[in-house]
Amino acid sequence: HQGNAAPASRYRFDELAWGNDETHHVADGYDAQVLLRWGDPITADAPEFDVMNQTAAAQLKQFGYNNDYVGFVPLNDDGTRGLLCVNHEYTNEEVMFPGLGRQDRAGFSGMTPELIDIEMAAHGGSVVEIAKDASGVWQVVRDGKMNRRISPLDTAMTIDGPAAGHARLQTNDDPTGTKVIGTLNNCAGGMTPWGTWLMAEENFHGYYWTDNLDADGKPVIDPTSREAASQKRYGVPGMWYAWGQKYDRFNIDKEPHAPNKFGWVVEVDPMDPTSTPIKHTALGRFRHEGAETTVSSDGRLVIYMGDDNRFDYQYKYVSGGKVSGDRAANSKLLSDGTLYVARFEEDGTVLWLPLIHGAGPLTAENGFNDQGDVMIDTRIAADLLGATPMDRPEDAQPRGDGTAYIMLTNNTKRGEDDLNAANPRAKSSFGHIIEIKEQGGNHAATMGTWSILVKCGDPSLAEVGAQWNPDTSENGWFGSPDNCAIDADGRLWVSTDQGGSWAKTGKSDGLYAVETEGDARGTSKLFFRCPVGGEMCGPYFTDDGETLFVAVQHPGTDGTKNLAGFERNSTFEDPATRWPDFDPAMPPRPAVVVITKQGGGKIAV
Ligand code: FEO
Ligand code: CA
Ligand code: CA
Ligand code: CA
Repeated sequence: HQGNAAPASRYRFDELAWGNDETHHVADGYDAQVLLRWGDPITADAPEFDVMNQTAAAQLKQFGYNNDYVGFVPLNDDGTRGLLCVNHEYTNEEVMFPGLGRQDRAGFSGMTPELIDIEMAAHGGSVVEIAKDASGVWQVVRDGKMNRRISPLDTAMTIDGPAAGHARLQTNDDPTGTKVIGTLNNCAGGMTPWGTWLMAEENFHGYYWTDNLDADGKPVIDPTSREAASQKRYGVPGMWYAWGQKYDRFNIDKEPHAPNKFGWVVEVDPMDPTSTPIKHTALGRFRHEGAETTVSSDGRLVIYMGDDNRFDYQYKYVSGGKVSGDRAANSKLLSDGTLYVARFEEDGTVLWLPLIHGAGPLTAENGFNDQGDVMIDTRIAADLLGATPMDRPEDAQPRGDGTAYIMLTNNTKRGEDDLNAANPRAKSSFGHIIEIKEQGGNHAATMGTWSILVKCGDPSLAEVGAQWNPDTSENGWFGSPDNCAIDADGRLWVSTDQGGSWAKTGKSDGLYAVETEGDARGTSKLFFRCPVGGEMCGPYFTDDGETLFVAVQHPGTDGTKNLAGFERNSTFEDPATRWPDFDPAMPPRPAVVVITKQGGGKIAV
């Protein structure tokens, strides 16, 4: 054993001390190198980043904003060259553009048509070739043949599955209901066993606009519209961004069906830079956090997916057919299968309830005329089936042995009378993690058992009600689990997003090693932490376990108040940190960081 890890721990590194400051930190003995920052050129003909003179055209050839999911497709046998696939979830215009500050959502004063296009171009995703140089350091291959940007501004996509062509997907731009421009709010995601990239569309509702407002400036939904119940359940229109002032496809007064084209999981083939991404409606429509895949013991594709909203649900998708060596046939597995929603029974059983038109309450009397309606209004269907309302299901990670880990990030709105066994804390600020064991170790099973792995928060404060293995140190406990990964040795790693509530813990967001097995089950150790105001995304391990990618999202923005002299509401001119450049002429930049062990070898083994 190395370092001071307890003998039972399978995570062999010296735990990092907790804290919160302007930069990132990794455990001793590791290198954490900034690999790709917002604005870095990713094509041979891309202009260098010029933050004071940014354009949409330049942004479409540069790495986007708010890197979230990170995946990797090896391009050679020893895994020293490959494609990084990165989601760009959203934008923080207050630290991207000079002079704007936090925008007034009612008016968006200062947002120009060009700034709107830059924001749109900074959303979506990037495919970037990277390779280890002669000294073993990862570098961007700027002229990589597969490098591409995907954005909500200009990337054409197709729609397939049960809702493709549905009347409720038809718009003036697309009378066929089978096409859409772009993807947005791509949060976590997944890689399929055959190397395609799944981008989950999360808070799509925030991008829709209406001019139909009440006296308080709140959107009015037309109660006679076919879309009224759906818009209400999904929170459309959110009016977080001004895009609908420029583009009809983000304005529900002009295009009431447009929001039905978002909230899906998008499949991208990173090996073909000319490929058209596909929105797979068989995987349901909700605020998709992620889409992590596995193959069941009977050979089928299974995808675990959370709907990140207070009191919303945990889902999984099981393909009808089996995964094979035929890449084209495999992609059809995302078009034909069954979507299930979870009911967590009080006795520790989990039941997976199928969302099938005509079965149970999913009939025309309840507004479901066909399977397309069930997929478009997945949430309403799941309500009728009696799914268990959860504390914001974020990422969910299956392991090959029939186990899955579900990150429940927090739910401060849960009252004492809404408690259930799987969501046992009122006003939960810090969340918890559930472990599912599917029946027979088969991820395709329609039932299993569940248990709580940890209840997060400070274990030294009785009122928090945390539950950790007592061997967890003051550095190791955390709040608000968000993303997670299983490494090549089957071990769980969890990253956090405390949002504006980080001041309750005083800790920066970070990456933690959480033991699931043996006497050490429920211990956690801090491995990496973010600069102030940043959220920890990724993480992703290469198959050899020797490289770990993490993504620092929105450094300098989240609730940067009260501690360490930082003040709330960073601006471009006065950010809480200028990570990672620390250049007075540069704002903070979201960036992907690559972590390797000094001297080589697997991470934490
Ligand atoms: Fe985009 Fe649920 O985090
Ligand atoms: Ca997330
Ligand atoms: Ca989150
Ligand atoms: Ca965030």
